[in-house]
Amino acid sequence: MQITKYFAKDLFKGKTVFVTGGGSGINLGIAKSFAAVGASVAICGRTQERLDGATKELAALGAKTFAKVADVRQMPALQAAIDETKQVLGPIDVLVCGAAGNFVCRAEDLSPNGFRTVVDIDLIGSFHASRAAFTQLKETRGTILFVSAGMAYMPYAFQLHVGAAKAGIESMMKNLALEWGPYGIRSCSIVPGPIEGTEGMKRLADPKEMQERLRHIPMQRMGTADEIGFAAVFLASPMAAYVTGEQLIVDGGSGLSGSALFNIGAEKMLRR
Ligand code: COA
Repeated sequence: MQITKYFAKDLFKGKTVFVTGGGSGINLGIAKSFAAVGASVAICGRTQERLDGATKELAALGAKTFAKVADVRQMPALQAAIDETKQVLGPIDVLVCGAAGNFVCRAEDLSPNGFRTVVDIDLIGSFHASRAAFTQLKETRGTILFVSAGMAYMPYAFQLHVGAAKAGIESMMKNLALEWGPYGIRSCSIVPGPIEGTEGMKRLADPKEMQERLRHIPMQRMGTADEIGFAAVFLASPMAAYVTGEQLIVDGGSGLSGSALFNIGAEKMLRR
């Protein structure tokens, strides 16, 4: 992987990383980046099949792996996965709260259960993971990384549920930085922009529309899951030892022009 051109191959040797929703997309990109720099990597997700595929990719990078089916909405299953990780790979040094759910829906059409489902997966799921891993993170003086989104600080149309959940995550990220800092635990978030080849992009943008939108992204392209992985490795590394309670935006500048183009594209998707 390209990351080893820039970071030492053994930067995370002897360290354990746990990624929720690590079976695909951005979260798998993050997991692979840590694997490439020597970490042992545990992942959880909702389907065994996805976890199996992801585990092969991680093992191909030389990582010791552990995977367990656990929905972040179910605390007992998640706690079991996190506890077993310690037995198999050692205590968790880096927790990545990446599991998320998303769909485009007008606020007036959003059912209470639709709203609750996204808040449950993103916000409550991230709390569950942080809470479940706390004892291990305290032992390792570890790091929590939350995968956030631009919706946390700017309104995006038809993303009411996601904005509420991600804004909650940003608040929780800062709160944990404040409360758990004295234990040596750092807490930060990453805000990815449009990342190619992900489930999120499939759900949020028409590929043809996206081509047009790229012209309005300062970096003129979508990002890659690997680029989110680079940011995660940096934030969890000793290079960021004095960084906590911070949000790192990795979006090629796409948030600078606001959410209007997204809103127009999403409205077209909803009309179809
Ligand atoms: N528009 C409006 N409401 C929707 C919807 C959509 N496109 N998709 C789901 N919902 C509503 C459902 O109607 C249901 O509400 P109801 O009981 O009032 O009808 C509620 O959301 C829960 O849906 P359900 O399919 O039972 O939830 P789930 O737990 O099986 O799936 C989701 C979770 C909804 C987030 C699903 O989209 C998912 O699994 N996504 C995969 C991960 C993902 O989104 N990744 C991208 C992250 S950026």
